Amino acid sequence: MSDRLYIFDTTLRDGEQSPGCSMNIEEKLRVAHALAALGVDVIEAGFPAASPGDFEAVNRIARDVKDSIITGLSRAHPKDIEAAAQAIKPAGDRARIHTFIATSPIHMQAKLRIQPDEVVQRAVEAVTLARSLAPEVEFSAEDAGRSDIDFLCRVVEATIKAGARIINIPDTVGYMTPFEFGNRIKTLIERVPNSDQAIFSVHCHNDLGLAVANSLAAVEAGARQVECTINGLGERAGNAALEEIVMSLKTRSDYYDIETGIDTTKIMSISKLVSQITGMPVQPNKAIVGANAFAHEAGIHQDGVLKQKQTYEIMTPESVGLNTNRMVLGKHSGRAALKSRYETLGTSLDGEELKAVFARFKTLADKKKDIFDEDLMTILSADSEVDMERIKLVSLHAASGMGDTPVAAVELSIDGELFKATAEGDGPVDAAFKAIKSLVEPKGKLLLYSVNAITAGTDAQGEVTVRLQNEEFIANGQGSDTDIVVASAKALIAALNKLPNMHARELHPQYSGV
Ligand code: KIV
Ligand code: ZN
Repeated sequence: MSDRLYIFDTTLRDGEQSPGCSMNIEEKLRVAHALAALGVDVIEAGFPAASPGDFEAVNRIARDVKDSIITGLSRAHPKDIEAAAQAIKPAGDRARIHTFIATSPIHMQAKLRIQPDEVVQRAVEAVTLARSLAPEVEFSAEDAGRSDIDFLCRVVEATIKAGARIINIPDTVGYMTPFEFGNRIKTLIERVPNSDQAIFSVHCHNDLGLAVANSLAAVEAGARQVECTINGLGERAGNAALEEIVMSLKTRSDYYDIETGIDTTKIMSISKLVSQITGMPVQPNKAIVGANAFAHEAGIHQDGVLKQKQTYEIMTPESVGLNTNRMVLGKHSGRAALKSRYETLGTSLDGEELKAVFARFKTLADKKKDIFDEDLMTILSADSEVDMERIKLVSLHAASGMGDTPVAAVELSIDGELFKATAEGDGPVDAAFKAIKSLVEPKGKLLLYSVNAITAGTDAQGEVTVRLQNEEFIANGQGSDTDIVVASAKALIAALNKLPNMHARELHPQYSGV
């Protein structure tokens, strides 16, 4: 019988900590449902004490998302732990508190400014309190990679004794090498007297590009939970990528003989969902989910693959959900076909939601003959909150041509009132952005503007991501349309809608001109 590895996903917590990757509550819920459908064992839904928004997101996920354990992060402070306990409560016996404190000399001296004995005491108090408030407790020794091994053994033994049933060993700064990290896990399991009472977990950052290799070395050494994120999102260079760990174990099952509960055929769609929501593109040569991961360019490779796929393919594209049952929908497809296709993609739609998505599907099908899975994911994520948003695009006309000055005229509804503006620009997108921005405050500084064609063909939908900054706050917006100027305007408006205190400029409704 092969062993079982628990997959702990932290896309919604560590992943969301990546600059510019913040998600709103509806977006987090959508990702959480997709993670549960993917089969992750534990979803770290956020850091409830960090903000009321984080608390609410964790609380909603704990209430609505079934089948996975839901956890919330907390520092080793009573207030954090109490907030986490409250937030995860609706998950009942699937609720877990994840509490942590740093154990490396540099963190204890420079950051916490407390002695090692006090760290042990705080860790034990935190676990004891958490254990009294939740059915399951995970303890993390932050910066365990750079911690003194004797001290780490002491902290781990004490926290297991206090009731932690999952002990997480993070390589917080991505400093470890695989051999070294694997040995660290082995030593802990061998030397800590009560290690058999806990599952050992690892959480590796990718600063040296070793996060997946370190995680796999830890698994070989006995770790049975891995913390990871979709597309490797996370602080700085990111966390270990879920898809790389899971596919390594599956593809090399002859070597590892360890199973996960992940339905790997859902990997591609969740990767796209997270990329669309966060506005963080996936690099084309990224393992497993990059656009080129299964593309064979060199003639000699193509020849080999045509003769026998395994010459250059160690796993099938279908095994990660690429090209499986590539049923193309079109304008004659009905609601049932749409619903069933979304179910295959890991999203279940019913009632009003299905009705709204079906209406958007029909609008797109009028403009575009073949609707691919990528299009479906986009219409699901791009427009689903439009009804709740304060700024809405009512109309947009843009004109440009060789030698002409590009001009755009927009009509926006802001809090139910109609505003109009026209502007000239360096191109039609620039003109549209100027016209839109002339109507609102704050305008935000444009940090990122990126355009992708979602599928092939000149009738492909363009998907635009806009990232805006207003003071400390960063907001992403996505927009998609077969018209790239309209897609850009939608993306800008989606980002503006997320900026705090967004309002119409002091203008008369029906104002026209910049
Ligand atoms: O990287 C880290 O150490 C963490 C812990 C809070 C688990 O994210
Ligand atoms: Zn981390």
